[in-house]
Amino acid sequence: MNNFQFQNPTKLIFGKGQIAKLVEEIPLNKKILITFGGGSVKQNGVYDQVKKALKNHNCIEFWGIEPNPTVETLRKAITLGKENQIDFLLAVGGGSVLDGTKLISAGILNENEAWDIVRNPKLLGECVVYGSVLTLPATGSEMNRGAVISNMVTHEKFAFYSTYPTFSILDPETTFSLPEFQVAVGIADTFVHVMEQYLTTPNQSPLMDRWAEGILQTLVEISPKIRKNQHDYDQMSNFMLCATMALNGFISMGVSQDWATHMIGHEITALHNTTHGQSLVIVLPALMSVLAKQKQEKILQYGTRVWNITTGSTEEKIQKTIAQTETFFRSLGLATKLSELNISQDTIDEIVSRFETRGTMLGENQNVSADVVKEILELAK
Ligand code: NZQ
Ligand code: ZN
Repeated sequence: MNNFQFQNPTKLIFGKGQIAKLVEEIPLNKKILITFGGGSVKQNGVYDQVKKALKNHNCIEFWGIEPNPTVETLRKAITLGKENQIDFLLAVGGGSVLDGTKLISAGILNENEAWDIVRNPKLLGECVVYGSVLTLPATGSEMNRGAVISNMVTHEKFAFYSTYPTFSILDPETTFSLPEFQVAVGIADTFVHVMEQYLTTPNQSPLMDRWAEGILQTLVEISPKIRKNQHDYDQMSNFMLCATMALNGFISMGVSQDWATHMIGHEITALHNTTHGQSLVIVLPALMSVLAKQKQEKILQYGTRVWNITTGSTEEKIQKTIAQTETFFRSLGLATKLSELNISQDTIDEIVSRFETRGTMLGENQNVSADVVKEILELAK
C-alpha cells in the first residue's frame, strides 16, 4: 500500500426534505450568492425549496452556469461576487454548477485572472466558503475539491483543485426530473470514476479493491431498475450515494490511480461539447484493450468479481470482460464508438497533437504517451 493522507471535511446531509436544512447550515449574517444552471431547478421545485429555506437570509442569484462550465460565464459571476462582497456561495444544480462555483469561490478574493487560477495551482489563494444542493448524481463534486472548467476561446477543458464544500445536501427526490440521458451518463461517469482508481496496480489494498467492486456491483445491480423506474426513491438513493462515494477519496487510499480515460475524454468534450460521461465510455473499453497486458491482473479480478467471468483462457477472459463493460455502457443507451457521434479522424489527430505538445504522460505508470493515446482513439473509431 502506498503512503497517503486522508481528510474529507464535507458534511453530507442526505434524504427527503433535507433542503430545508439549509437554514441551519448557513449563518444569518452571511451575504450569499446562489448559483444555478439553466433552469431545471425552477421546473422541479428545488428552487422554491431553497428560497423557502433561506427566506430570512441575504441572497443574490447568478443563473446560467452551463454544462461543461465555461470560464467566460464564470468571470461574470466572479465580478458579481466581488461587487457584492459575497462571503458565502451556494451551488444548486449538477456537477457543472458545483464546479463553476468552485472557481467563483476561488476568484472572488483573488486578483488573478480566472483562467490563470485554473491553469496555475500556485495562484489559488483564499476561497469563499461554499455549500451545495446537488440535483444530479455523477461527478462526486459535492464531496471533493476538483472542478473542471472549459474555455470557449481555446476549446480547452482542464481540472483544477480548490477547497471542499462545507456541506452538500443530497435529496434523491430532486433526481426524479432528470432526463433519461443524464441518468445514463451519470451512471457511466460514476462507473468510470471507480475504474480509474481500481483498474491499476494489483495487490495494493484488498480493502480498497472491495469497496471499489462494491460500488461497481451496486451500479450494475441498480441500473436496469433505475432505467425501468426513475422515481424509485431507494434505487435513486443508492445511485446518489454510489456517485458520491466514487470520487470523495474513500476508494483511493493507498492505491495507484489512472485517470487517462478522463484526460482523453476531456479532450473529446472540449472539441465537440460531448457530454462528459458519454466521452468516457467511448474511451474506456479501447483503453482497456490497448493496456490489457499492463492491467491484466486487475482486469481478470474485475471480470471475475463484477461480471462473474471465470471460464476460458486468460486472453478470452480479458476479451469477455472488456466486451461486457462495453455492453453495460450500451445497455444505458450510450454510444461506445467515435463514429456514432460523427467524430472523425481530424479530432483524433488534434487530440494526439495536443498530448504531443504538452508532453504529458498519463496513467498509473505514467506511460500513456501521445502514441498510446493515438492507439486508443484509433481503436475507439
Ligand atoms: O442547467 P440545468 O438547467 O440545471 O440542467 C442540467 C444540465 O442541463 C440538468 N440537470 C441537473 N439536475 C437536474 C437536471 N435536469 C433535470 N432535473 C435535475 N434534477 O442536467 C444537465 C447536465 O448537468 P451537469 O451539471 O453538466 O452534469 P454533471 O453533474 O454530469 O456535470 C458534468 C461536469 O462535471 C465535470 C464534467 O467534466 C462536466 O464538466 N466533472 C467534475 C468532476 C469533479 N468536480 O470532481 C469529476 C468528473 O469526472 C467530471 O469531469
Ligand atoms: Zn468523470
